[in-house]
Amino acid sequence: MELKEHLRAANAEAGLIKIFEAIEQASKVVQSEVCRAGLGADIYGAKGSENIQGEEQQKLDVYADECFIKEFRASGAVAGMASEEQDNALQFDASLEGEYVIMIDPLDGSSNIDVNVAIGTIFAIYKRISPVGSPLNDADFLQAGKHQVAAGYVNYSVSTQIVCSIGKGTHIYTLDPKSKDYHLIKESIQFPADGKVYSINEVNLDDFDENLKRYAQHCKDKRKADGKRMYTGRYIGSLVADFHRNLIKGGIYVYPATKDSPKGKLRLLYECNPMAFLAVNAGGKGSDGRQNILEIEPTELHQRCPFYVGSPVMMDEAIG
Ligand code: AHG
Ligand code: MN
Ligand code: MN
Repeated sequence: MELKEHLRAANAEAGLIKIFEAIEQASKVVQSEVCRAGLGADIYGAKGSENIQGEEQQKLDVYADECFIKEFRASGAVAGMASEEQDNALQFDASLEGEYVIMIDPLDGSSNIDVNVAIGTIFAIYKRISPVGSPLNDADFLQAGKHQVAAGYVNYSVSTQIVCSIGKGTHIYTLDPKSKDYHLIKESIQFPADGKVYSINEVNLDDFDENLKRYAQHCKDKRKADGKRMYTGRYIGSLVADFHRNLIKGGIYVYPATKDSPKGKLRLLYECNPMAFLAVNAGGKGSDGRQNILEIEPTELHQRCPFYVGSPVMMDEAIG
C-alpha cells in the first residue's frame, strides 16, 4: 500500500496528506542527489558557511533545506517552517491559509555525507495556534512535543525509507526505485521492550553525570546466564540511523550534556521531539534524563537538550 493510501485509510486530514506528498517529493529529490554523489552531483564537502549554531554547513545541508522549503511552500498546507539551517522561522506568505507548521532537520548526520554512510531528514508537524490567515508568531513554533500531530524521518541508506506517525502507531515505508513511490513495509512497528544495543559517543564518558556513568558501566558488566555479554555498542553518528536500528532491534540511544555541549548537542524541536514522538507511538520512551521530553515547554527555536530514547526496559534502567 502506498504511503498516501495508508494515510487516507487512517483518516488523515487533507492538509496532512498534502504535507506528506511534499515530504515524499523533496526526499526523492534529495535521495537522487545522494545516489549520484561524485557523479556530477556536487554534494560533497563544506558550503563555506555556518548555521546559527556555529556549525559548518555542508553542501547537502543547504541543498536538502532548499528542497524541503520549496515543497512545503508549494503544498499550500504549511504556513511556516523552522529549520536547523535557518536562523529564524520562515513564514510562507502565500500559504497563510495553511493550518500547519513544521520543524525540520533537513539533513541529519552531516559528518557522514562524505563517507557514504546513512543520513536522514527529521521532521515534526504541528497545527498552528494563531488563527489561520494571520501572521505566525513564536507560540506557533514553540509548542511542547506532546502537541505534535505527526512526525517522522527519512533514512537515506541502502534503501530509502520514511518512518512516520500521525499518532496512530509508527510505520515504515520503503521507496521503490522502480515505481518511485513509498510503500508500506511495516505497520505499527513496536520497539522491542528490551534490547542489546547501547548507542552513545563514549569519547564523552568523563563528562557523563554519575547516573549515566553507572549505566555505561552496567552495560559493560552485565552478562547473560551463559557468561557472554548482554550488550553491544553501536554508534553511527547519524541520529536517524542509530534510532532506526534500535527501533528494529531494540536498544537505547543517549546524547547527554557534555563539556563541549553543556545543554546537550541535539535540538529539541527538530531532533529530540520528533524522535520521541515516533518512539512513544511504537511503545518506546523519550526523555532528557529527568522528564518525558514531550512535556518540555520550548523557549527557543534552536534549543538543545540531553536526549535518551529507546526500548522501555533499557530506558528505565538508564534513567532509574
Ligand atoms: P546534524 O548533522 O543534523 O547536525 O546532526 C548530527 C547529530 C546526530 O545526528 C548525531 O547523532 C550526533 O550529532 C553525533 O554527534 P557526535 O559526533 O558528537 O557524536
Ligand atoms: Mn541532526
Ligand atoms: Mn542537520
